[in-house]
Amino acid sequence: MKVKLVEAEDKNLYEQVADRIRALIAEGTLKPGDRLPSVRKLHEQLSVSISTVLEAYRLLEDQGLIGARPQSGYFVKRTLFTVPDEPRQSVFFKPIEPVDVSLAFWITNAMRDPDRIRLGAAVPGLELLPIATLNRLMGQIIRSQSEIVHSYQLPRGCEALRHEVAKRLMEAGCSVTPDQVIITNGTTEAISLSLRAVTKPGDTIAIESPTYYGFLEILESLHLKALELPTHPKDGISLEHLETALQKRQIAACALVSNFSNPLGSCMGDLKKKQLVGLLNQYHIPLVEDDLYGDLHFEGSRPKAIKAFDTEGWVLYCASCSKTLSPGLRVGWCVAGRYQVQVERLKMGMNFMTSVAPQLTVAAFLANGGYDRHLRQMRRALQSQLTCMTQTICEVFPTETKLSRPTGGFVLWLELPDEFDAMTLYEDALEHNISIAPGIMFSPSGNYQNCLRLNGGTPWSEKIYQAIQTLGYLTKQQLAKKRV
Ligand SMILES: Cc1ncc(COP(=O)(O)O)c(C=O)c1O
Repeated sequence: MKVKLVEAEDKNLYEQVADRIRALIAEGTLKPGDRLPSVRKLHEQLSVSISTVLEAYRLLEDQGLIGARPQSGYFVKRTLFTVPDEPRQSVFFKPIEPVDVSLAFWITNAMRDPDRIRLGAAVPGLELLPIATLNRLMGQIIRSQSEIVHSYQLPRGCEALRHEVAKRLMEAGCSVTPDQVIITNGTTEAISLSLRAVTKPGDTIAIESPTYYGFLEILESLHLKALELPTHPKDGISLEHLETALQKRQIAACALVSNFSNPLGSCMGDLKKKQLVGLLNQYHIPLVEDDLYGDLHFEGSRPKAIKAFDTEGWVLYCASCSKTLSPGLRVGWCVAGRYQVQVERLKMGMNFMTSVAPQLTVAAFLANGGYDRHLRQMRRALQSQLTCMTQTICEVFPTETKLSRPTGGFVLWLELPDEFDAMTLYEDALEHNISIAPGIMFSPSGNYQNCLRLNGGTPWSEKIYQAIQTLGYLTKQQLAKKRV
């Protein structure tokens, strides 16, 4: 059967062929040790030239995914899935800390410098986003609704978008009406408004450890304190420790990323989500749920939101289209349960409403822009990118490195021996024009100095391969110096 390569027109043909093979490896269709189709066979199947296939195979060879054997052709490398151990559950259950994350602010600025190879910021490559379609839809909207895009709407946002969001939330197991959805400027504003609705300055919030540093920025700006809960890279926070904090009346609220968290990649199972809601109901404690990675699962169906199990309205659900469609449009949403009116009023006091043209553009894309097809392609690409990054880390980092194995999203968390200092690696890497996210950004009490987060959202390339090699080399060099 002949297959035509049509996706990702912006890539060279040989890169598209390599992507296809990489996806087959990532999905497990091609297993370690399997022989790849012969060059001639692939040339016929894909209707591409022999030199294109050879170039694709060379690229995969360079990336360490396949190897050639004399007279026998190309094979998937056997070492491919000897992935290092995962980090253990974190142990921090420390005294409550006021939050000061000024260091994270400066590091974040460096992470966004476009002249660097950006392995720090958690962003999807722009190549993976449907930019052309979004731009076309926005143009149509500006022309066809030329007055509406310049008018005030309700603080809770445009009906068309709230309707589409409510429909999409069914996929996450949530049954909400458009009137229960409040449109915000990204997840960041949804989280910030939610925390303002449920706390007062000086309160303590239970968070994951390590946690998304954006939470820490918001806690600091609202003069809140943090209680770090031990967190497992597979299924998130320890409910036992949360219950202890609840029994001691230590916390006013809880804030976490439910699906494919940042930075650990953990995803809570349904049973745990249900038990968590049981605790919230029992102690009357609100939970700010950040679910902006939930659509980016690699296998099976979309994981449910904690909100799906919320029987009494204690969950304030926050998400956006920043990781799947466009971070720049700044379109997010909040379903605030029993805090709906408070959040809506806070939104009004903050900036009255979110800009209309981006809202209508996202609404149009969700309604008929092929969102599901786009997600299928994006998930495949992200999974394949993380496979390549994992494989390269296995090859070039010290053997003691522990590495997360997320089943969705696009960040990896690395834990190195205790004597390792990720801030030194961060500085060394900047000298090589590479940015990373050092572990201490993810803790209010400066933990995780031996850890780092890498972004796997950018399409795999020779440049990224080289950058990971450099990081591996710098890491080994630092450890060797310390061990002399
Ligand atoms: C867990 C998490 N929440 C929120 C955000 C910010 O989302 P938004 O751009 O929608 O404000 C990010 C961005 O990296 C994130 O990783």
